[in-house]
Amino acid sequence: MSSESIVLVTGATGKLGARTCEVLKQRGYALRATDQKLPADFPFELELGDLKDEFFVHRLVRGVSAVVHLGNHPNAFVGPSPQRILAENTQMNANVFHAALQQGVRQLVFASSVQAFLYTDFSRLGPPYRMPYLPLDGQAPCAPGPNTYGQSKEFAERMLQLACDAQPQLAATSLRFPMLVNEQMQQRFETIRTLKGGWFNFHECLSHLTFDDGAELIASCLQRSAPGYRQYFPALSLQLGKRSAADVIREFYPDTPLRQEREAIAELIDLSEITRELGWKPRRRILVPLDD
Ligand SMILES: NC(=O)c1ccc[n+]([C@@H]2O[C@H](COP(=O)([O-])OP(=O)(O)OC[C@H]3O[C@@H](n4cnc5c(N)ncnc54)[C@H](O)[C@@H]3O)[C@@H](O)[C@H]2O)c1
Repeated sequence: MSSESIVLVTGATGKLGARTCEVLKQRGYALRATDQKLPADFPFELELGDLKDEFFVHRLVRGVSAVVHLGNHPNAFVGPSPQRILAENTQMNANVFHAALQQGVRQLVFASSVQAFLYTDFSRLGPPYRMPYLPLDGQAPCAPGPNTYGQSKEFAERMLQLACDAQPQLAATSLRFPMLVNEQMQQRFETIRTLKGGWFNFHECLSHLTFDDGAELIASCLQRSAPGYRQYFPALSLQLGKRSAADVIREFYPDTPLRQEREAIAELIDLSEITRELGWKPRRRILVPLDD
């Protein structure tokens, strides 16, 4: 995609959206940013409106060649009731995807979530934890369990696959983001000395990514020219003290099916496909300096 094209960014004043707008601007893209809230210090022009309003969304998409769709209720833990999260995220996603299809948009990047395929069961805190397989990648089948936020992401991924079937020139990418971390969160993890001294989400494979890396990845997706549907799990797992990946598997995931010999596994998350296809690698991983 040429950098003169207009890119619509939804959820533009959110944490990932604001960083994404900065990165895209630096790369020379013309932006159309939209959100339902406008912080006083947001540095770009903003179309203020509600993504649940299909007529607003339709006007918004007119004339853009790419859509980066980040505007959603961002997790299952804060915000409205579970059923409203499912209904409203689905309404926003359907509005954005349908308008994009109708208006011949060629590139669509969607913020999906690790919660589309891994369910954090808070009643089971302690090993053994189980992953669908290790090393994990973006192809794991959807399994959000009762998490309606994850269910909304699963359905959005399905809508995008069907959109690509209907419009063979469309390149649509679902990024199954893990916990996204800012500088403060990174620093907090980097002071934890014991496993009990912090919250480590083994149900989500200890996955994380910085907002900076996430925004850079979105920019890389816009450079992808091949049409069709792709999905990725762009994440690193926390480095727990001196434990190797094989140590972590032995201690925490002993029953998980392995795709390689355990001792040959260097990383719990396999980024080879995303790096090969998009030329992107995360720059920053969190090292937790555990003593135990
Ligand atoms: N932050 C994470 O750890 C994480 C992890 C996985 C996936 N994601 C996904 O990434 C995307 C961005 O997340 P974030 O962390 O920047 O969240 P955020 O809450 O900071 O940003 C989301 C933005 O969407 C906007 N929005 C919500 N409902 C809207 C509506 N009806 N109309 C218009 N705008 C609306 C909000 O105002 C907000 O600015 C979300 O889709 C989220 O589900 C985030």
